[in-house]
Formats: sequence, C-alpha cells, structure tokens
Amino acid sequence: MFRPILSFAATLLLLITAQASEDAHLSKPVLPDLSMKQNGLPFSLIQGYLNYKVVATHFRTDKKELRYILANPVAYHALEQGKKVMPEGSKIVKIGWNVKPMELFPAALEADRIQRVEYMVKDSKRFDHNGDHWGYARFVKKGDAYTSWKGAINDCISCHSVASGNDFLFATMQRRFE
Ligand code: HEC
Repeated sequence: MFRPILSFAATLLLLITAQASEDAHLSKPVLPDLSMKQNGLPFSLIQGYLNYKVVATHFRTDKKELRYILANPVAYHALEQGKKVMPEGSKIVKIGWNVKPMELFPAALEADRIQRVEYMVKDSKRFDHNGDHWGYARFVKKGDAYTSWKGAINDCISCHSVASGNDFLFATMQRRFE
C-alpha cells in the first residue's frame, strides 16, 4: 500500500537532486551581488544565464553594439510551442558587446568586451505596467566590474511599450522556430 507513495517520494527526491546538481553546475561563475534600486531585481535571478539558449542576435548600428538574446528554459519551451505571450517565470536576457575587427581578417567584426547584461522577467504578481507583467533589470560593466544601472526603469517600460503587440518584446524570436 505504501509502495506507490514510497516510489513517488523516491522519484521526487531524484528529481530534486537532479535539479539541485543542475543548478550547482549552472551557478558557476557566481554573479555579482547587485540589485536594481527601483524594483529590487537582483543580478542573481539569472544565475546560470550562460546556459540559456540564444534565440536572437541584434546589432545596434548607432551604439556599434552586438547583442545576444537568450531565453531561459521556461521561455524557450514556450517559443518552441509557438506561444506569442511568454508564461510566468520566463526570463529573457540580453548581453551587449562592443565589437572589434578580427586580427586575422579585419573585415570581420567579433565580440570584444561585455558592456552590459540586462533581463526581463515575467512576474505578473510583482509587475504590471499597462499590462506588460515584465520586470526590468540592467547591469553595466565597466572594466571588470558590474554596477546596477542607475537610470529610470520607466525608460525601459515606455520604450518597450512600442512592442506591446509582441508581448513587449522587440525580438521576433518565434521566427527561429518556424
Ligand atoms: C529606447 C528604447 C529602449 C529602452 C529605453 C530599453 N530598451 Fe530594451 N530593447 C530595445 C530594442 C530596440 C531591443 C531590440 C534590439 C536590441 O536587442 O538592442 C531591445 C531588447 C531588449 C531585450 C531583449 C528582448 C527584446 O525585447 O527584444 C531585453 C531583455 C531588454 N531590451 C531589456 C531592457 C531593459 C532591462 C531596459 C531598461 C534598463 C531596456 N531594455 C530599455 C529598446 C529599448
């Protein structure tokens, strides 16, 4: 009678252990202990983001910055399923690099140094700016050190409202799955 319960418990334990070891693997390197002053979002919320999947690449011609857009597993699965609105817990990360000519082939540009890492997290309990349900965070890198961005988060919100028809996301990541 207890056997199904026991095996259920064992499976659960296995799953938890597997998750914990995956997280342990993902948690390297440890992100700086920084949070956004205005909404409290910490850098550590995207611990392991280098293991997220790249879903779009952009180049800002005015800032000469290369951007990689990554999706955490929740967002990635939703994109795979063709969802247009990202579910709770979705995290979309943007890494920005300046570029430099490649030494052996200067006509080609390559990523040089990280300029910033920023993210959007879907959390409807905490965030609702005209229906977006995204929290915004940006961490700027100068030399080897990051700082949390001191600007107004309202800037993120109002600029991203241009993309309200695409769940406030500019990237058309779904195209990757078509
Ligand atoms: C002036 C407009 C503007 C502002 C302000 C702005 N963004 Fe964006 N954001 C964009 C554009 C355009 C893209 C797509 C092109 C690119 O990647 O640069 C983008 C892309 C992103 C992405 C990738 C998902 C997507 O929408 O494509 C994230 C994450 C992001 N921004 C976060 C932020 C955060 C956090 C802030 C505030 C700290 C912010 N953005 C402020 C215009 C803006």
